[in-house]
Amino acid sequence: MSCSRGDKLRVEIFGQSHAASVGVTVEGLPAGERVDLEALQRFLERRAPGRSALSTARREPDRPVFLSGLTNGVLDGAPLTALIENRDRRGADYERFRDVPRPGHADYTARVKYGAGCDMRGGGAFSGRMTAPLCVAGGICLQLLARRGVRIAAHILSVGGVSDEAFDPMGLDTETAEALQERELPVLSPAAGAAMRAAILAAAAEGDSLGGVVECIVTGLPAGLGGPLFDGLEGKLASMLFAIPAVKGVDFGAGFGAARLRGSENNDAFAVRDGAVVTETNRAGGVLGGISDGMPLLFRAAFKPTPSIAKPQKSVRLSTMEETELVITGRHDPCVVPRAVPVVEAAAAIVLLDVLLAEGAAPAAPRGLAALRAEIDRVDGALVPLLAERMRLSDEIGRHKKEKALPVRDEAREEELLRRVKALAGEDCGKSVEAVYRGVLSASRARQGGEEP
Ligand SMILES: Cc1cc2nc3c(=O)[nH]c(=O)nc-3n(C[C@H](O)[C@H](O)[C@H](O)COP(=O)(O)O)c2cc1C
Repeated sequence: MSCSRGDKLRVEIFGQSHAASVGVTVEGLPAGERVDLEALQRFLERRAPGRSALSTARREPDRPVFLSGLTNGVLDGAPLTALIENRDRRGADYERFRDVPRPGHADYTARVKYGAGCDMRGGGAFSGRMTAPLCVAGGICLQLLARRGVRIAAHILSVGGVSDEAFDPMGLDTETAEALQERELPVLSPAAGAAMRAAILAAAAEGDSLGGVVECIVTGLPAGLGGPLFDGLEGKLASMLFAIPAVKGVDFGAGFGAARLRGSENNDAFAVRDGAVVTETNRAGGVLGGISDGMPLLFRAAFKPTPSIAKPQKSVRLSTMEETELVITGRHDPCVVPRAVPVVEAAAAIVLLDVLLAEGAAPAAPRGLAALRAEIDRVDGALVPLLAERMRLSDEIGRHKKEKALPVRDEAREEELLRRVKALAGEDCGKSVEAVYRGVLSASRARQGGEEP
């Protein structure tokens, strides 16, 4: 079990790569806020394995089941617990690494720390699979942040030796941010994406792997969040980003590049725009003294090349202390970077929502009429086809009744249905939904009786 304690949010991730499931518990999420489960699923799909030739062939549906904390799609204040089943398990593939650890993996260090009985299957609790529950927590935080005007977007800045255009440190428009999510490789330049794809496939064909850098930008963050020393935003974010398997470096703004600049080149001049203090450039990456300065937060996470490669490697047989050769087979990401992009967004979202909640900044913006109507349209879009499907099923039942000369109305069944619907709708809406259902039942009856309701 791995646990991150923010000031308001506590995130615990549990499970193992080839155990029955992985999961997450999040305490401290604000009660009363709706979670768009379809949007969350779309977010999880961006990380899920087996969706592209560039990813591991392990195929997992990655559909979380919420055990608590969510009632009718609304955060209810209780700790939220979600489980994701591990369906495509092949634990036996990994048994031999207990004695001969894979270079670049945690096999050796886990064995030193936990002893010979530790879980080797697919990297156990060290696996990239643990980022699925991280994305459940982070995906929810992203939605809550968006309601507070804070948006997070990431892209692949580089893979191997191929680079995408960097983000403009001064901001990112919504259209570009959304377009990134639609691409197999989330990059700004399609040409860079094609070259990255070719580089990953070429490395895989040689039994090798590639690393790369994910760049992330956060817009809409107010100035004044964070604090000096241990309370710094950079430290909090870095600590969460280093929790992602395979991350070996994190930098902010001009980052390591700032070390080569002079003060006169690196400092961001202050200016006034529309009555607000801004900086004319953003080499600080949105943080000064550990505190947000109101400019976009910009950072990068460097991922090492996937440790599992098909090329023979040198290792040690621990039982005899002899050096030996190891050949790894099985299913692996030839480059973890494409799947890690939403993971970086999720990690940042958990930290930033925690900071916003802890510092009492930015309660959820009240939704305007247009936003509420859009939400109603979304609900109707899901509800109406289901109601139509219900009518068609009821027509079929009507035909059965006719064949068996049964009466159209079955009062006991209707009462039972209404009781169930009322309970399902909850205390606040039970009576209203029951009334709607009385209408649905009467329409079904009319159709079964051959009338047009
Ligand atoms: C989304 C994601 C997927 C990953 N997939 C693999 C994989 O298929 N094969 C592999 O060897 N490592 C993979 N890794 C990386 C390993 O989990 C990681 O390198 C290993 O556990 C050692 O930890 P460390 O690199 O943080 O030291 C993945 C990481 C992430 C974030």
